[in-house]
Amino acid sequence: MSAHHLKDLFLLDPSITFLNFGSFGACPKPVFEDYQRWQLELEREPVQFITKTGYRYLQESREALGAYIGCKADDVVFVMNPSYAVNIIAKSLDLKPGDEVLTTNIEYGACDKTWNYYCEKKGARYIRQNISLPLTTEQQFVDDFFKGCTPRTKLIFISHITSATALRLPVDAICAEARKRGIMTFVDGAHAPGQVPLNMTALDADIYTGACHKWMMAPKGCSFLYVKGEHQHLFDPLIISWGFQSPMPSHSLFLDYHQLQGTRDFSAFLTIPKAIEFMQQHQWESVAADCRQLVQTYAPRFCALMNTQALCPIDDQFLVQLFSIPINTTKPEALQQHLFDHYRIEIPVTRQDDRTFIRYSINGFNTAEDLEKLYVAMEEMKGEGWMV
Ligand SMILES: Cc1ncc(COP(=O)(O)O)c(C=O)c1O
Repeated sequence: MSAHHLKDLFLLDPSITFLNFGSFGACPKPVFEDYQRWQLELEREPVQFITKTGYRYLQESREALGAYIGCKADDVVFVMNPSYAVNIIAKSLDLKPGDEVLTTNIEYGACDKTWNYYCEKKGARYIRQNISLPLTTEQQFVDDFFKGCTPRTKLIFISHITSATALRLPVDAICAEARKRGIMTFVDGAHAPGQVPLNMTALDADIYTGACHKWMMAPKGCSFLYVKGEHQHLFDPLIISWGFQSPMPSHSLFLDYHQLQGTRDFSAFLTIPKAIEFMQQHQWESVAADCRQLVQTYAPRFCALMNTQALCPIDDQFLVQLFSIPINTTKPEALQQHLFDHYRIEIPVTRQDDRTFIRYSINGFNTAEDLEKLYVAMEEMKGEGWMV
C-alpha cells in the first residue's frame, strides 16, 4: 500500500505535514474504532465490564502483548504511560543513602525528574553518565557508560531509544554487562514497541517499560510495565486498592496489585490485539524498513543545510524512524510554532541540556515530499535568521 493510501487509514488532519509521530503516536481508524467499541461495551453494562468481563479481556490483551514482546502474559501489566511505570519503580526501589542509580546524560527529562525526586528523598545519587557525541560504535558507548559504574550502583536506567537525540542505544550489550556485574537493569523503551522488534526473554532486562500509544499505534493511555518474575514482589503499586489483601485474589499478586486501581476506563489497553493485527495486515515490518531508509536518505542533507554534525553514523546501528537534526537557534519554541503556523508542519524542536534539535519522525504515511517540504521551510527560515 502506498504512503498516500496509508495516510487515509489514519485520522490525522490531511492539511498538516505530520512529522511528529514520536511525541504521541497516532491511531489508525480500525484501531480507534476498536477502542470505541470497547468503550460502548463498557457503558452498556459498566458493572459487568469493570468487575468481571473487563479482566478477562485484559488477560487476552496481555497475552497478545506478551506474544508480541516475548514474555509471559503474567509478567506484564498495563499502565497509562511510561512515566507511570518509572514512578512505580523509583518509588519502591530499595535505595539506601549513598546508593547510586546509573543513567546517561541523554535521558527523557521527565524521567530524570522522577529519579532525582526519589533519589534525593532516599539519600541516593542519580548519576547521569556523560556520553560522548557523536556516537561512533556500540562498544564505545558501552565503555563510556560503564565508566560511571561503581560498587554503589544499584540500578541501571537507560533508554532503548532516546527522546531528544533520537538514538537507539545498545541496550542488549548494556544488560549483558550489567548481568555480569550483578546490577539490576531498567530499560525505558517508550519509543521501542512497534519501531524495533522486542523480546523480553532474549534482552533479559529486569524491568522494561514501553509505550503502546506511540509506534504500536494504540490509543493514548496505553503502555506497559514488564518486571521479571523474581523481582515482582519488590514493587508496590502506586495506588493501593482492592488488590491488597484481595477478597478474591487471582493467581498473581503482581496483577492484583497493579491492575486493581479504582474505577477507570481501561478500553485503550484492550485494543492491543487489534493494533497488532493492524501492523501484521499492513506488513508493518517492511513499512518500517522503508521508513528507516527515508530517514537516512535525508539525514545528511539536513545536517549539511544546518552546517552541523549528525549525532551518530547514518546507518542502522543507532538510527530507527526518527532523526534529530542538530540546530543552532536562540528561539526554539518560536521556531517550532513558526513551522506549524506558517508551513503547517508538525514537528518538535527538542532539547537536551544546552543542545537543540529539530526531530523528524517517519511512519508509513510519510513521503519524501514531506521531508522536501521541511527542507524548503528550514532553508527559508535559515535565510530569515531563525537558525545560524
Ligand atoms: C524516552 C522516553 N521515556 C519516557 C517518556 C515518557 O512518556 P510519557 O510522558 O507518556 O509518560 C517519553 C515520552 O516521549 C520518552 O520519549
